[in-house]
Amino acid sequence: MKRILILNGPNLNLLGRREPGVYGDDSYEAVCARIAAKAEELHVRVTFVQSNSEGALIDALHAAMDEQDGVVLNAGAYTHYSYAIRDAIAAIKIPVVEVHLSNIHAREEFRHHSVLAAVCRGQISGFGPMSYLLGLQALALE
Ligand code: DQA
Repeated sequence: MKRILILNGPNLNLLGRREPGVYGDDSYEAVCARIAAKAEELHVRVTFVQSNSEGALIDALHAAMDEQDGVVLNAGAYTHYSYAIRDAIAAIKIPVVEVHLSNIHAREEFRHHSVLAAVCRGQISGFGPMSYLLGLQALALE
């Protein structure tokens, strides 16, 4: 059974309460429940980690190298400027799929660029909570 880490970065713990017009009404827990249901359907094992700290996200990526077969990553705003997270993704041998709830290319200019995308397996952006399900599906079927 494939093991996939669902890794969420800063402010994603506030889903449902944070800018619902942009990120939707579903709470972080509700989104995780949808991902868990999809994982069962796909016969993969998912583990959830959320942190608001850059270092904790990097530690989770390092640990994933030995414990997981892939990562679905929403790095939040770190997507746009964290070279440290980019280097961590490049350092680990397992595939990482970058996901975003919102379409980052249709928003403010500073969100158009992802410093992570080039070292990720692919990017899924703009499908709300379904972005995570699509990312999971990509890793499960690959
Ligand atoms: C986000 C998009 C980022 O620009 C933003 O900083 C987030 C969430 C998304 O899921 O749409 O925190 O990654």
